[in-house]
Amino acid sequence: MSAKPEYLEFPRGFLWGTATASHQVEGSNANNNWAVWEQEPGRILSGHKAGLACDWWGGRWREDFDRAAATGQNAHRLSIEWSRVQPAPDRWDADALDHYRQMILGLIERGLTPMVTLHHFTDPIWLSELGGWENDRTPDYFQIYVRKVAGALGDLVNLWCTVNEPNVYAVYGYLEGLFPPGVKSLRRTLGVMAGLVRGHAAAYHAIHDLQPAARVGMANHYHDVQAANPNSPLDRWTARLISSLFNDFCPRAAQDGVLRFPWGRVRLPLAQNTQDFLGLNYYTREYCAFEPLRPGSLFHRRFFRADASISPTGFCANEPEGFYAALTWARSFGLPIIITENGAEDAADQFRPHYLAQHIAQAGRAIEAGYPIEGYFHWSLLDNFEWERGWTQRFGLWELDIETQERCKRSSADLYERICRSHQVPRRWLDGGDFSPFEYATDRQV
Ligand code: BGC
Repeated sequence: MSAKPEYLEFPRGFLWGTATASHQVEGSNANNNWAVWEQEPGRILSGHKAGLACDWWGGRWREDFDRAAATGQNAHRLSIEWSRVQPAPDRWDADALDHYRQMILGLIERGLTPMVTLHHFTDPIWLSELGGWENDRTPDYFQIYVRKVAGALGDLVNLWCTVNEPNVYAVYGYLEGLFPPGVKSLRRTLGVMAGLVRGHAAAYHAIHDLQPAARVGMANHYHDVQAANPNSPLDRWTARLISSLFNDFCPRAAQDGVLRFPWGRVRLPLAQNTQDFLGLNYYTREYCAFEPLRPGSLFHRRFFRADASISPTGFCANEPEGFYAALTWARSFGLPIIITENGAEDAADQFRPHYLAQHIAQAGRAIEAGYPIEGYFHWSLLDNFEWERGWTQRFGLWELDIETQERCKRSSADLYERICRSHQVPRRWLDGGDFSPFEYATDRQV
């Protein structure tokens, strides 16, 4: 048997990028539910606000897109702010659409393929006042907005993400109370997830009506959940329950048109086969133990592996095997896979290089095993407003000083550049141990 090659190779045309979201980077967003939420005392850690964020609305996207292009990236995933495009139910803002057009042209001019998300956690205030995603008519409102955007930008954009992480939006906003509107109800959480699937399906059809060749999907957050004790049937049961409700509910409905509530199934034929690719957001793996006294949290407790390396503020454990499990889950849908987010918060950039290298190595391993992976978008290009954690978590390849708007490159950006340019990573990164990232040639012809 011949030895395995020293490098894991990524295919020609592979998309190497970073991902961002409107509210987190644009600044001056005053007309969405987060702008309201940030005013309420106690909602955001340390009382932080998005404020000017990375000032992309003020034009600093130019310099940041320059940074992405100059460091070997060939794609970028950004999102459109619904509340800017449709500030009131009966009002459209042509200037806002034009602003996005300029940004997308800016990507294309720099050789960055745009991937555009239509809903990334924020809702216009007028929509929240109508009940947000609990209102049965919201999927129709969403479809109208999506038609407007696809009509205005479809000649430039071929890759669309309808909804970012419907499960996270619903669980954080309606179960854990961390996102607006701060509700804690399982029934309402699942109702919102169902509403978002309806919205996704409506958007999918709207885009395809206008742009038959477009590729449309969702960004699905997969949280790898393992039984704490694999020999315990109760731990296994609870891990399966959490995983199926959190991970499977939305993408399965978008595959076979069935919403699987714990209390019964609802058919949703319009949602059937509404993903052209499986968008995957992965951050970490957790272990799950059965807890008879915690019915409110579905009889479980979750924790990181005891000997795992944990990111500086505890957001994620470095669990590259969990990423392989996530990719295996993604492959089960029988669709091309695009990794729409993966990253870690680490202001000092000590943890990130290991996390980045080891996760991309797992993607390389999966490609070698025949998984149809087409792209990887690191979260994120530069530090940005991290939702209810405010500015306390720093996910950027570039550091942002929010007072001065100065950007400062972290060494992970150099590491990522090597990977993007060479389309390969050393196989030994799979083992984690020998981690010396910088020794192969850049600008390899592929
Ligand atoms: C979200 C991003 C967020 C990241 C880190 C993902 O769930 O899509 O908006 O910044 O996690 O928390």
